[in-house]
Amino acid sequence: MIPPRQIQDVLDAARIEDVVGEFVTLKRRGVNLIGLCPFHGEKTPSFNVNPARNIFKCFGCAKGGDAVTFLREHEKMTYVEAIRWLAKKYGIELQEIERTPEQLAEIQLADSLYIVNEFGLKHFQQQLFDTDEGKSVALSYFRKRGLREETIRTFGLGYAPDQRDLLIRDAKNTGHSLDLLKKVGLCSQDGSRDFFRARVMFAIHNLSGKVAAFAGRTMSSEKTVPKYINSPETEIYVKNKTLYGLFQARKAIRQHDECLLVEGYMDVISLYQAGIENVVASSGTSLTEGQLQLIRRHTDNLKILYDGDAAGVKAALRGLDLALEQDLNVKICLFPDGHDPDSYVQEFGGEAMNQFMAANAKDFILFKTELLLEETRHDPVKRAGLIRDIVGSIARIPDPIKRSVYLRECATLMEVAEQTLSAELNKIIAGSIRKKEDKAARQPGRASDSGPFIPGDEWPTEVPPMPSDADFPPDQPFPVEPGEPRRQTRGGAVQERDVIRMLIQYGNRTLEQEQVTVAEYILSDIGDSLDSFDDPLYAKIAIECQNMLLSGRSFDHHYFIQHPSAEVSELTINILSEPWDYSPNWEGMWNYPLQNQKMPDLNFDLDMKQALLRFKLLKVNKMCDQNLARIKAASLAGDDESMMRYMKVQQKLLATRNDIAAKGGTVIFPK
Ligand code: CTP
Ligand code: MN
Repeated sequence: MIPPRQIQDVLDAARIEDVVGEFVTLKRRGVNLIGLCPFHGEKTPSFNVNPARNIFKCFGCAKGGDAVTFLREHEKMTYVEAIRWLAKKYGIELQEIERTPEQLAEIQLADSLYIVNEFGLKHFQQQLFDTDEGKSVALSYFRKRGLREETIRTFGLGYAPDQRDLLIRDAKNTGHSLDLLKKVGLCSQDGSRDFFRARVMFAIHNLSGKVAAFAGRTMSSEKTVPKYINSPETEIYVKNKTLYGLFQARKAIRQHDECLLVEGYMDVISLYQAGIENVVASSGTSLTEGQLQLIRRHTDNLKILYDGDAAGVKAALRGLDLALEQDLNVKICLFPDGHDPDSYVQEFGGEAMNQFMAANAKDFILFKTELLLEETRHDPVKRAGLIRDIVGSIARIPDPIKRSVYLRECATLMEVAEQTLSAELNKIIAGSIRKKEDKAARQPGRASDSGPFIPGDEWPTEVPPMPSDADFPPDQPFPVEPGEPRRQTRGGAVQERDVIRMLIQYGNRTLEQEQVTVAEYILSDIGDSLDSFDDPLYAKIAIECQNMLLSGRSFDHHYFIQHPSAEVSELTINILSEPWDYSPNWEGMWNYPLQNQKMPDLNFDLDMKQALLRFKLLKVNKMCDQNLARIKAASLAGDDESMMRYMKVQQKLLATRNDIAAKGGTVIFPK
């Protein structure tokens, strides 16, 4: 934790023009500075930096704020990361408190591992550029593969000659400990041999540009020699949280709002050199969640570039579902047989590569659908499996709007009814929510796996923040009538409260017939009228539920009891402490035959649907009243035309009202 006093020091020291100037080219104009906005594409500058007020503001896209805002928005840092970054820039030493001795030891170890790797990089570069053997063997290899010196330096390429302990001896001479060499895997465990020998070397950077590991490629085409060998995993190198090239690609990914994903080191380097800089590699393994999360911090758009062979396609399909889960928009672009991105761009150049991608990249779900359709053309049994497969992919997309667009398109492609697909979809979603719940129940207290902490890598994966009290409006004073419990006197009507009660109390229960959860049912029913809640607290809760569903998080009443907002947890406790939660005046108000009802716990299905109907009825009644007022006003003003129009609206509203009432069944609505 950083002491607040120091945060203030950092904020005071930060100059907006310095900070923005690191990322945007600024020109002076009068007392202000001006440049091209980094948040939206533009050709004429409307991005203003005001040093006097220490803020920036774009008059094109309306983004604005201080240095911290800029770093959070532009560099996707958290608040604390931004403060640390600024402290470093302005040479303010933060006296962070609460670091355990273990953590300190871990950080010290990480620092020394990075130092040893830095030494390794220098060593390999020296061997490449400053020795005759390096120049004739390795540099010429890179040249043959079309790499320029600038590129070779940008990516920290090097050379490890075929000698037993050249690096070990160099380390001893320059005062590096053998122990640390072993720890980063630069030499054998007995300390007698170099790990990388007779290979061209690739440095693998972490997100802040430090060398986390190495890969070495053999220059021989002998099949018995492994093509690549890699540093082992260490405290500073966690493979499934590393994307090769991300350090170099970051800025371009942001600018293009797209990340290209390739398989190999050489693909990344060649594309980058050809001016296509927004490219990273998964390094031969299939994509992991951690890697996708890294991408997701910079863009929503992922384009996967793979070889056109069958293995390439299968690899691509495997990565797809995980990427969809991260809410990435995924496209795939296959290269003609015999080409990979590296060979293509080396042969035809960057311009041709861009054109090829523009012409051949396909939306992944539609690609998969077409591919599998082709495969199952004459096999009806397989075709049924295909539907499940495709819908399974669609079900992973957290955004319901996107889901329904895909559903429609795929139904057309497959020539099946959209309802068939959506029934399948609902089943899968309900099932996966249940699975998640089971998993959560088995691992109490582990809401989300944020992965291991990699010391020195300054971009830890974030756990989505819990809402804080500040996100909620202050409690509204409300006249409490004597003798009446407080909950009935909140701003919103009982109907609103009842919907919220259903979400909190039964949100994660599955409805027998529909095979979706109560929360999914409620939010798909009234999801687009959440702003019609009169009570701001209820509205906030409903919106929070909706956001959680959209991001694939499930919730139950425990979540709301532990809620950081005292108001929410109090409301929850009130709700849960009322086993018979038909508001005491339901019976009189609605003729609701309480005695004949099952306990709500057994009857949540019907209970919830009726609560929804009452909620809708409340809203329609309100609209009727408002419209009636309009009719009166129009009639008074003698505006016949408007009056006719409002009368028609009124007819529609009344029809809707009757409709709701008819569905109400046992509930007899007043009015
Ligand atoms: N890879 C690996 N070990 C191997 C083979 C491959 O780690 N024995 C990983 C590397 O990250 C490699 C990626 O898989 O970059 C893709 O493999 P491949 O296409 O064979 O390598 P390229 O990078 O394309 O290398 P080159 O073009 O030099 O053959
Ligand atoms: Mn290759």
